Amino acid sequence: MRKKIVAGNWKMNTLPAEGVELAKGVAAGRGEVCSCVNFIVCPPFTHLSQVVETLKGSDIAVGAQNCATEAKGAYTGEIAASMIAALGCKYVILGHSERRQYYGETSATLNKKMEQAYANNLTPIYCVGENLEEREAGRHFDVVKAQIEEVVFNLTAEQFADLVIAYEPVWAIGTGKTATADQAQEIHAYIREVLRSKFGAAADECPILYGGSCKPSNAAEIFAKADVDGGLIGGAALKAEDFLSIGKGF
Ligand code: 13P
Repeated sequence: MRKKIVAGNWKMNTLPAEGVELAKGVAAGRGEVCSCVNFIVCPPFTHLSQVVETLKGSDIAVGAQNCATEAKGAYTGEIAASMIAALGCKYVILGHSERRQYYGETSATLNKKMEQAYANNLTPIYCVGENLEEREAGRHFDVVKAQIEEVVFNLTAEQFADLVIAYEPVWAIGTGKTATADQAQEIHAYIREVLRSKFGAAADECPILYGGSCKPSNAAEIFAKADVDGGLIGGAALKAEDFLSIGKGF
């Protein structure tokens, strides 16, 4: 049985006090959702600590949205994986399309970040996904395969056993345009097949989340698909009620 996960990527939203309120709201309503669902929230760095504190005693995990390629030292403005782990975070989102697109993150960068995450016992939520042009040209399978081969294939079996993958088609992020449940299933099954070619049966244990305009009204249909193990939620994670309601989609 693969883990069911609903993760909220708050992106660059919420001031510290707002983030704490949001986390309180999620914790308050968590009991209404099956305990089989693993909730994760990923606030901005500035209030990771406060959100960890707020969620103490709950089963809601906290993750960061990025980490540095290096362990420590003269890297002004960067945040090391060890710092994130020291706050009590368990996860780190890596390779989000916004980081690839706006901050030039490449597979080379991401290999280093993955190493840092594992060295500090953080579980990476590794994001893959094609843009609109690639989808329209029918290249989405190749794009996603390369993003996996160039990074995930460098992991040891032990590291792979502690990995979450998120498939997020760039054309569906923040656009209100969701992949259909069948489109999601098609590519999730493909991702699992690629993983199986390297890691064998362990691929059947790896949670693969869907992300891109996932909301209460479409989550259940998408989560019902065999290879979809949950969601990485942007906009709808900013309202506790919507975020929790997505968890009821299982
Ligand atoms: P939206 O849910 O706002 O489309 O964002 C998805 C996303 O990028 C989560 O990482």
